[in-house]
Amino acid sequence: MLAISARLNPECEHVAGDMRSLRLGRTFDAVFVHDAVSYITTLPNLEHVAATAYVHTRPGGAALFVLDCVRETFAPDTESSGHDGADGRALRYLEWTHDLDPSGTTFAVDFACLLRDRDGSIRTVHDWHVNGVFALAEWRAALATPGFAVDVVPLDPAVHETQVMFACRRPAAGAPR
Ligand SMILES: C[S@@+](CC[C@H](N)C(=O)[O-])C[C@H]1O[C@@H](n2cnc3c(N)ncnc32)[C@H](O)[C@@H]1O
Repeated sequence: MLAISARLNPECEHVAGDMRSLRLGRTFDAVFVHDAVSYITTLPNLEHVAATAYVHTRPGGAALFVLDCVRETFAPDTESSGHDGADGRALRYLEWTHDLDPSGTTFAVDFACLLRDRDGSIRTVHDWHVNGVFALAEWRAALATPGFAVDVVPLDPAVHETQVMFACRRPAAGAPR
């Protein structure tokens, strides 16, 4: 995956790492955390992600977290899509988001995939993911723990449906927290 991304984005440096523990020893003006954070399924791990973002944000810089959903916006859903490759292979899938754990921090995402090979044969694959979901207040607390000042950015629900965006500022050096 990194090799494909490096080909598509040659101007970017690529580093493999775990967002809970990565330490590059550098800071950046901005840190962007996108839907990969869906795979964080416990509050302690969410706090580790917040700490990773914080130590890589320069004092006075910002971190943007764009989440697929929070507990308050979670909604069971079904989507389908696919892709036709230039080499004759093709994929169609149905993605089913469901099974929110009523007292926990996870839900299920099942994929039913139809993969067509060059010779026209089709095989079916079932893929199953466990994703994490946290309440707005849990997110705010996790992001504030390392020292971020946290704002929720208003999004148009007609466009973004369940998505939530947090703009987090790391206070400038010497600024009161
Ligand atoms: C839904 S995809 C995100 C795709 C990404 N938004 C993109 O457009 O390329 C989820 C990604 O999260 C990564 N991931 C899951 N757990 C991770 C972790 N603890 N640290 C870093 N990456 C992780 C997976 O390897 C996968 O590439």
